[in-house]
Order: sequence, then C-alpha cells, then structure tokens
Amino acid sequence: SDQCGIAVESRIDCGRDRSLSRADCEGRGCCYVPLPQSGLGGPPWCFYPVRYPGYKMGPLLPTEKGKRATLARSEPSYLPRDIPTLQLDVMPETLGRLHLSLKDPASPRYEVPFVTSQLRGHKDIQNPLYDVDFQPDPFGFIVRRKSNGRVLLNTTIGPLLFADQYLQLSTSMASSVISGLGEHYTPITLDLNWSSVSLWNRDMASANLYGSHPFFLVQEGDGQAHGVFLLNSNAMEVFLQPAPALTWVTVGGILDFYIFLGPSPQSVVQQYHEVIGYPMMPSYWSLGFHLCRWGYTSTNITRTVVQLMRQAKIPLDVQWNDLDYADQRRVFTFDPQRFGDLPQMVEEFHQLGMKYVLILDPGISSASPPGSYKPFDDGLKRGVFIKNSTGQILIGKVWPGPTAFPDFTNPTTQDWWMDCIRVFHSKVPVDGLWIDMNEPSNFVQGSVDGCPDSDLEKPPYTPGVIGGQLNSGTLCVSAQQYLSNHYNLHNLYGLTEAIATHRALLKVKSTRPFVLSRSSFPGLGRFSAHWTGDVRSDWEQLRFSIPGVLLFGLYGIPLVGADVCGFGGDTTEELCVRWTQLGAFYPFMRNHNDRPNAVRYQSTGEAYCSKGQYILFPAPLDTINIHVREGSIIPQQLPALTTTASRRNPFTLIVALSVGNWAKGELFWDDGESLDTFEHGHYSYVLFFAQESYVVSKPVKLNGSLDGLVLGEVRVFGVQASPTAVWANGQKVHDFSYSPDTKVCNKCLCFILIFKMC
Ligand code: GLC
Repeated sequence: SDQCGIAVESRIDCGRDRSLSRADCEGRGCCYVPLPQSGLGGPPWCFYPVRYPGYKMGPLLPTEKGKRATLARSEPSYLPRDIPTLQLDVMPETLGRLHLSLKDPASPRYEVPFVTSQLRGHKDIQNPLYDVDFQPDPFGFIVRRKSNGRVLLNTTIGPLLFADQYLQLSTSMASSVISGLGEHYTPITLDLNWSSVSLWNRDMASANLYGSHPFFLVQEGDGQAHGVFLLNSNAMEVFLQPAPALTWVTVGGILDFYIFLGPSPQSVVQQYHEVIGYPMMPSYWSLGFHLCRWGYTSTNITRTVVQLMRQAKIPLDVQWNDLDYADQRRVFTFDPQRFGDLPQMVEEFHQLGMKYVLILDPGISSASPPGSYKPFDDGLKRGVFIKNSTGQILIGKVWPGPTAFPDFTNPTTQDWWMDCIRVFHSKVPVDGLWIDMNEPSNFVQGSVDGCPDSDLEKPPYTPGVIGGQLNSGTLCVSAQQYLSNHYNLHNLYGLTEAIATHRALLKVKSTRPFVLSRSSFPGLGRFSAHWTGDVRSDWEQLRFSIPGVLLFGLYGIPLVGADVCGFGGDTTEELCVRWTQLGAFYPFMRNHNDRPNAVRYQSTGEAYCSKGQYILFPAPLDTINIHVREGSIIPQQLPALTTTASRRNPFTLIVALSVGNWAKGELFWDDGESLDTFEHGHYSYVLFFAQESYVVSKPVKLNGSLDGLVLGEVRVFGVQASPTAVWANGQKVHDFSYSPDTKVCNKCLCFILIFKMC
C-alpha cells in the first residue's frame, strides 16, 4: 500500500530486537517488502509504515523551564513492559542549546548522575537559533535552524518506542557528514551504509571499545554545524543508514537530548562542553614525553632505562611503571625484592626534574589472608565493594586473581580510595595515577559464580556487544551499586573512578592532578586524560590513531594519545620512528608496549609556502614534515631533556604569513602546576600579530610568570622578497638571513626582552 512506499534507503527497521518472518512482521503492523539482498546488515525487509501508530501528544503547557506535554498511547507496542504515558519537556536553555527530555511521569526511572551536575540554568531565551515543531499523532518533533529553515532533526520518520528495557527514536539527518559516537576504530566521519555502533564500555581492542560517547556532530555543508547529545548511560546501539538517518536504541534510562546549533563546528563543541564540563587544565609536565612498558621488572631496570634515555639525550619528562611494581599484582603495594627501593627511585627521578606515574587497577585482590592486605580488609569493613544481586560481594578475576570491585558511586568508597592513595603516596610520592581496566574489565563472565538468569542480564534486546551479553568481559549487570544497578551505571565506572582519583590527588598533592583513564564517558575530561588502549604495533593502527585522538577533542578529553610504537606485538624500527614523529603531535605522548624499543626524538624542518598544488616532500626516516597553517604565529621553546628544563629556554616565534601578509597567535603561560591559575588570574597572556612588515607582541595580562624568559629568535615564513634591513625593539639586527628558495627569514626580528610592547 502507499503506507509502505518508502525509498529503500529510508526504511526504518521494524525488527531490531529479533529477525521477523512475514507473518511476525505484519503482526506488528509493519511492511514486509523483500529485496534481492538479505535483510541482515543491509536495508531491512520489514520496516515501519508511514505514520506507524504510537504516542499521541496532548497540549503543550508552559512550565518554569519551557513547555511540557503528555504523550499517551492507546494500544501497547510489541515490546514487553511498555510505558503507556510519557512526559515531554522542551527546554530552550541558551540561544544555541535546546534541551528535550522524555520520561515516565508515573514512576521515576534511572537518570545519569554526575555529568550535568555543574550545569547552570539559563532563563528567558529570546530569539534562539532554533525552532521546534511537533507532529501530535503519532508523536514526533522537528528541529529547524531558524536562519535558513534547514531541518536538523525530524523524528516523524519512525516511531518513538519507550518500554522499560527498550527505548527507540529515529531521526533524519541534515547531511551525511557525521562525526562522533565513539569510542570506535572509525575514520573521522561515520559510515552511513547500514552500519551501527554500540556504546558499552569494554576491554576489547577491536569492537565496542573502552568508552561511550553518545554525542555526534553534523556538518551541514555550508560551514554550519550542529550537534546532538543523548544523555543516557545504558547500553546503546546507534544505527546509521544512507537516507541519511539515524536510530538510537537504548536499553534503559530516559531519553534526554541536548541539541546544539553552533553555528560553527567549534561553537557546537563548545556548547557541548558547557553541558558536560570543560576539560581540566593539565600540568605542563604532562605535555612532555612519557615512557612506559609492561615488563620493567625492577627498579634497577627502570633506572637503567632512564639513564640510557639521558645518555642518548632523548627528552623524557615522565617515567612510568606498569603492574610489575606491585607485590603479587596487588595495587597499593610494591614488591619488596624487585621494587624494594621504589621510594628512593622516585626521589632520584624528581632530582632530575622528572615525574613518575604508576598503574592502579580498580580490582582489589580478595584472596590475601585476612589482616595481610589493608585495602581489602578496610574496604570490606567500610562496605565499599559492589555487591551481587543477592547482597554478597561480587568477586571477579583480574590480574591479581580473585578481586572485588570498589563502587565509586558511593561517597564512602571515594573516602576509602582517598585514604588508600594518601597512605601509598606517603611512601611512594607518585606524581600521577594511571587507572586501567576500569570498564571494568573482568576475566570471567559476570563473576566467579556466574550471573543470575534475569531480565537485566538478558534484556529483550542486547546491543551488538562482543560476546553477545552485557556481562561479557565485565560484571554481572544485576550487581548492586550505591546509586543504582550495574546495568545502569556500567558505562560510568571509569568516570566515577576518575572523579575519586582526581579528588584524592588534589587533596594529597595540592597541584593539578594527573589521571590517565582507559574507560571514558562524557565529563571524563574534567578529571582525566585518556589513551586509546591496547593498539597493535602496525601501520593501520598508527593511521587510525589520528581520528581516534582528534575525536576525543570533540568528547571534551583533549589530553589524549595512543601508545607510541603500538602496544601489542613487535614493532619495527621504521614503525616506531614514524610513530614517535606522529606522537609528538598527540597532546598526550606516551611510548608504552611490552617489548624494548629504541626511541628517537627530533621535532626541526625546512619551510615551504604552497597553495592549490600537490607537492611531494622527501621524508627519510629521520624527518617528519611539519606544515604550519598560513596566518598563524606559534611560540616555541628549544627542547631540553625535561620540560622542567625546557621551560627556561629562550622562545622562538614561527610566523607563517598568509597570502594577505598577516598572521596572529597567542601564548598562555603560568607556572604549569598550581591550581586554578586562570580563575585566580595567576598567568600571563600575550597576543602576537604580524602585518605587512612587522611583528608585534601585545601583552593582555602579565603576572611575572614570564620573568627572565627571553625571545631568542623570530622566523618569518612567506616573506616574498629579501628584506633590506631588520629592526627589533628599535635596534638594527645585523645577523638576519633570508632564503629566496624557501622565503624564510631567520632572526627576522630579535627582541632582547620579550613581551615588552613594541
Ligand atoms: C591493559 C592495559 C595495558 C597494560 C596492561 C597491563 O592491557 O591496557 O596498557 O600494560 O593492561 O597492566
């Protein structure tokens, strides 16, 4: 019939929960139209007709935050435990941000804690960038960009389904250029050819990965962009199809959407971060080079590594140890034989201007004799561990063998964790902590005793997770935590551990905490850095680390990197050299693997100006070509063996003139580790401008942090003709040089004292 006359690419699957025969399909009131290709993994054969019956919307009434309507369905859907009445709230929160939620007014359902707790309310939004329209029966909403009428979201293309363990909504997309929905190995834009991504944190280096970020950015094609965040932490699968259209399916919680109108991609990201919280200010040293390996089996071996690095004059800011340090792999201990002098070793590194970080897994060994392992004994007394559905402590298996898992949603656990860190830090003065295995990862399915047979463990629909069950590789999802069950809170495990670890380091050290977390969720960037987990030592993974790292910028976790040289398998000299060159551009640069590798570090280069042409650059193994965008001014410092030392070196300014002969840049500078320097105004901020034939610095704020630092050199790229004379701060510069081939002018300006107004 007409109702089924839907273009193949726009068919919305009516049988996501299970595959349907014609009779089953038609029994659901759906259209069954077979295609030459199979209905599995391609366009569906069974799909919803136009205006599939669903919720009917009542009148929109004003509330304090916006408008509210009740949605009701006259007949139940095909799903178990349907929720017949819903409450829709439409909340315009800022000019660019629309908040829209759907929940059950009759009984409160789980809502995501922590993420938006910092969000301040806004009121009286006049003339926002968006318009919202509704289709009352069946319910759907349409969000438009007001300036040009462009439809950004249209959920009338498919039904809204809202059952206890199955929530679904589809929308059309304004373009096919969509980025986000990590963490996955994908290019920077997602594949819309009947693909799907599952969001369920997992220790698995291939499919559903360590983190879940239900946010995406859509580029509209004319430079404008918008973003959508579904604040929901339950297991989710998002389906993408060529229409272009997208369908969210989640197995719990509520539907809580934030829509960001930009209009530039940067402003979309900013608007998103305003909701989830802005990233923490990193310590300066954490931007330096980090070296780690699983297999530095003693303090002496670790010391030797540092010595060799220094002999070879390779910069090294932070030395790490993996689990090798721990006594029987139990966290908060160190092996009395091999790592007996760990505290001294850390002091030695500090004397060299270096920092030290070690690994901390959340699994607390539960098998030591009572009285012999305080973290477990204490934790037991204080009731900090996750319990199974019948109220006993859930025991899984991780590196140390049988382990219990702290429940970081419990404030008591946060205090116990702080005590563990405080006591350990008083012996081993670590500078930061690496929180691994925090999906949480479990080597047995669910627990050593298995999991109960229940709707939580086997929901009516399980998103496509490796192993096929939500408890694969992790805890039973029926396990009980302080705020809810693990079914709801699983994806927040790493975030809550990061909050606890950040808080503990803040208290113990009173400097900017450094935490590195493998598992992530929106909001993690306020507390932690991230690395992309166990990548293989091969070229493909080197390549995919680039979108991987860039996408974490969208997710508000900018301090991110991949294991340089690759983690798994044997690296080669060529791969490792290239990865080191690439890694210099990761915000977080750590070489980590389980085999010894030689590392080189040299970040020098020639400069060329080009536009609209392909140029082949020679790239021998010891060279990485760095391209500077026209119009930018980049302050640099000469490297040293640590950033403690390099922070005292003279600055260089790289000025890359645009075709129009201008450039600009900036420098933010503080002591690199004190807390809240921005908030307290304890920083310097200098702007640089270049125009025609001069470069000037304009200090916006100076606080003494730059005292004693000098600008050694200015290199200007793109100077079209040889300058006849060069002046700096009123003095003639005699030793400038100019290359007509590369159009680079060295020592083109040479300030004696930097940052005085010219
Ligand atoms: C996990 C981590 C890896 C670490 C290993 C041992 O696989 O991802 O980085 O080396 O555990 O702790």
